[in-house]
Amino acid sequence: MTTADGRLERWERLVARQLEAAPYLLLVVSAVLAWQNESQGRMLTLGLAALAAVWIAVMSRFRAVYVIGLVILIGVLCTRSIWFASFFAFTGYLHSWSHLRGLWRFAGVTATAAISVTAYQGGLPQSAGDVISFLFFTAAIVAAVGLFSFVGEVTTERSAERKRMVAQLEETMRENAGLHAQLLVQAREAGVFDERQRMAGEIHDTIAQGLTGVVTQLQAAVHARESDTDWQRHVGNAMTLARESLAEARRTIHAVGPAQLESTPLPEALDELTARWAALHELRADFTATGTARPLHPEVEETLLRTAQEALANIAKHAGAARVGLTLSYMNDTVTLDVRDDGSGFDPLLAADGGGFGLTAMRKRVTRLAGTLEIESEYGGGTAVSASVPAITRRDTGV
Ligand SMILES: Nc1ncnc2c1ncn2[C@@H]1O[C@H](COP(=O)(O)OP(=O)(O)O)[C@@H](O)[C@H]1O
Ligand SMILES: [Mg+2]
Repeated sequence: MTTADGRLERWERLVARQLEAAPYLLLVVSAVLAWQNESQGRMLTLGLAALAAVWIAVMSRFRAVYVIGLVILIGVLCTRSIWFASFFAFTGYLHSWSHLRGLWRFAGVTATAAISVTAYQGGLPQSAGDVISFLFFTAAIVAAVGLFSFVGEVTTERSAERKRMVAQLEETMRENAGLHAQLLVQAREAGVFDERQRMAGEIHDTIAQGLTGVVTQLQAAVHARESDTDWQRHVGNAMTLARESLAEARRTIHAVGPAQLESTPLPEALDELTARWAALHELRADFTATGTARPLHPEVEETLLRTAQEALANIAKHAGAARVGLTLSYMNDTVTLDVRDDGSGFDPLLAADGGGFGLTAMRKRVTRLAGTLEIESEYGGGTAVSASVPAITRRDTGV
């Protein structure tokens, strides 16, 4: 709450307290002046004033009854001295308004006004002129009291409305703070989840693929040894693969891009990858690049390289293909990598349901860059994997 609001509230409390004390004060002032100025029946006047004080103190709970009694007391006191009309009569206006509702308020105010005016005129109106001025003053008082009270009420209502709004605002701000904290926690959790996914994907792409290759080569070495052929070559392959995956795993932990892209443009890195893979698996694999090759954002290049690696790993593991072709196409806004094989094929829908990690991770990587991944395959008809990503250049992002 602001200091201005605090000051306003203190002010309101002060006014309310003084309004409560006002009737007694007015009564005392009237009684003292009456005592000094009237010589007859002072004790009776004092007694009536005391009765009025008790009435106010005790009876104000019984709203209508209280106001009727109050007006009668004002009337009686006014017959004792004009001073009661000058001061104490204000209590009649005040309490008619605060203790009654609707038209009853005006009834109370009018009665009080009529009594005061009568007292000022020194008794009930005698002539037509008296009646007219009586009516005029009474109406004027009623109108003035009504107007002031109305303005006062509107102000009070406004101030209450303002207080409600401030309270509501404070409530909303508290709720917002809660929401904010919740969002931060969620963002942090999402970040942790993303990072975990990334690590899992990278481990799959590097360690798992590498170990699969190592096992394949060692198996080949065992076969070669049995048939007394060049088994050392396979062991050498296995060692190279193991060393490379170890290096890749280390890079993953430190979140740096793949070694192949460090100093080599993407088309060359893919060409190299294809040649090495073909040699390793003793298969025919060709790589072609079309369009204007240009350096892309590291994230984009890494995504395409990982896609090629996983697609080739899948072919080695599942396809039993004889020929493999990779095409990298640079277009205006997108870059597309196609990997085709003439192997056994599979049902991409089933694979999607079964949830192999490789294809899922591939799709995640591509869609994270707002790209698309299409897999076309059928049993006996080979497989085509096509990944399209936005051609974000290094210059676009200042990397
Ligand atoms: N080129 C392919 N030829 C034949 N089957 C494939 C090919 N690529 C993927 N698959 C099938 O899709 C499945 C899911 O692949 P993937 O998500 O990479 O998981 P994983 O390789 O670990 O089994 C594979 O198990 C395989 O049956
Ligand atoms: Mg796989």
